[in-house]
Amino acid sequence: MAQLNINGTVRDVEVEADTPLLWVIREQVGLTGTKYGCGVAQCGACSVHINDEVQRSCSIRVGDVKPTDRIVTIEGLSKDGSHPVQKAWLAVDVPQCGFCQSGQIMAAAALLKKTAKPTDRDIDAAMTNICRCGTYQRIRAAVHLAAGTSTTNRSSTL
Ligand code: FES
Ligand code: FES
Repeated sequence: MAQLNINGTVRDVEVEADTPLLWVIREQVGLTGTKYGCGVAQCGACSVHINDEVQRSCSIRVGDVKPTDRIVTIEGLSKDGSHPVQKAWLAVDVPQCGFCQSGQIMAAAALLKKTAKPTDRDIDAAMTNICRCGTYQRIRAAVHLAAGTSTTNRSSTL
C-alpha cells in the first residue's frame, strides 16, 4: 500500500514497495500518457516531474516516493494543452510517431523551469531523451520557441 500525490490528487494504491512508479501511473491510476520504452532509465519515455525535477519513473520504486512528493505527469502539465511547451510542440509540429514525445515535453518543461532562456548547449545537456524518429532538430526549435529565444522560422526546422 502506498499513498501518492499525482497531478494534485492523493491516491492510495495497492502495490508492492518495489513496483516501478511507471506501472502505478499507467496500470493503477490509468494515466497512459507516460510511456514505457526501455525500463532501464535510458530513453526518457517514462519521464514525469517529482517536486519539479524531471525523473524517469520506470526506475523509481513506489516505496521510495513519499506521500508529500508532488508527481506530475503529462496529463497534469496543463488542463488543456496550454503549457507553453505544449503550444510550441504543436506550432513546430515536433512529433513523428509520437511515442517519445510526452517524455520529451516533460523534460523540456523541467528545463525551462530552471533555465528560462536555454542555449543550444543547455538544451542538448538537459534533453537526453531518445527519439527513434530523430525529431531532435524540431525539439530544439520548439524549446527555443517556448523560451522566446527562437531565431529560426518553422520551415528551417523541418
Ligand atoms: S522507459 Fe524509463 S527511461 Fe526508458
Ligand atoms: S517521435 Fe517517434 S520516437 Fe520520437
